[in-house]
Amino acid sequence: MNPLISVAELYKEYSENLPEPVKVLKNLTLEIFRGEFVSLMGPSGSGKSTLLNMLGLLDSPTSGTISFEEREISQLSSLEKARLRNSSFGFIFQGFNLLKKHSVLENVMLPLLYSKVQRGEAANAAKKVLKSTGLEFLSNRLPSQLSGGQQQRVAICRALVVQPKVILADEPTGNLDSTTARQIMNILKELTQKNGITIILVTHEKEVAAYGSRLIQMKDGVVQTDEIIGS
Ligand SMILES: Nc1ncnc2c1ncn2[C@@H]1O[C@H](COP(=O)(O)OP(=O)(O)O)[C@@H](O)[C@H]1O
Ligand SMILES: [Mg+2]
Repeated sequence: MNPLISVAELYKEYSENLPEPVKVLKNLTLEIFRGEFVSLMGPSGSGKSTLLNMLGLLDSPTSGTISFEEREISQLSSLEKARLRNSSFGFIFQGFNLLKKHSVLENVMLPLLYSKVQRGEAANAAKKVLKSTGLEFLSNRLPSQLSGGQQQRVAICRALVVQPKVILADEPTGNLDSTTARQIMNILKELTQKNGITIILVTHEKEVAAYGSRLIQMKDGVVQTDEIIGS
């Protein structure tokens, strides 16, 4: 089986407005397969978010290659990157990142509007996802009128509305209490098990990482350990 994502000899350094470049990823090589649920751990500053941003085409590596479905993607034009990002990747963040002045429904529609889907069609798709996750009753509320757990579930709907192949989640339970965190993790786990979505999730909590099928530990910009874990 070919990997869904293949990262080879990846280097990333930040140099903008810095006296000396900061080397963050150092010769990182990694393969991720369809349907895997990868938990990514490592000390703060080890490069986890940087790696996630590269995988999701939010930023470009300094050197090295990233292939997605056997196609080298790190050198695509920004338009092609945006297209691929909008159609194949869903993002979930620690701070939920919902637009404050827009309703739940509008927030979930947003990735489709970015992909130039018509409003009516986008609204229908968003309603469908909200319904399937039992959140339809929140459609007209503003994010500020939701609990943290509800906001993160809306963010999951927003990630799902494009029917992504991959979900990239950066400490998605970092702002949630442990009961709510467990609910969110169960939703994510079900997504891999029922829909075959590949998940790459950054966390610093062992209990959260344990929901994954594979655990990768990073340190100083390289993979330190990489193991298949239970479940
Ligand atoms: N835009 C940036 N400019 C300069 N340095 C950055 C930038 N983004 C991240 N870094 C640095 O890169 C290192 C790794 O950051 P990050 O990937 O966010 O780590 P992690 O998510 O593992 O905590 C840190 O030392 C951080 O300060
Ligand atoms: Mg981070």
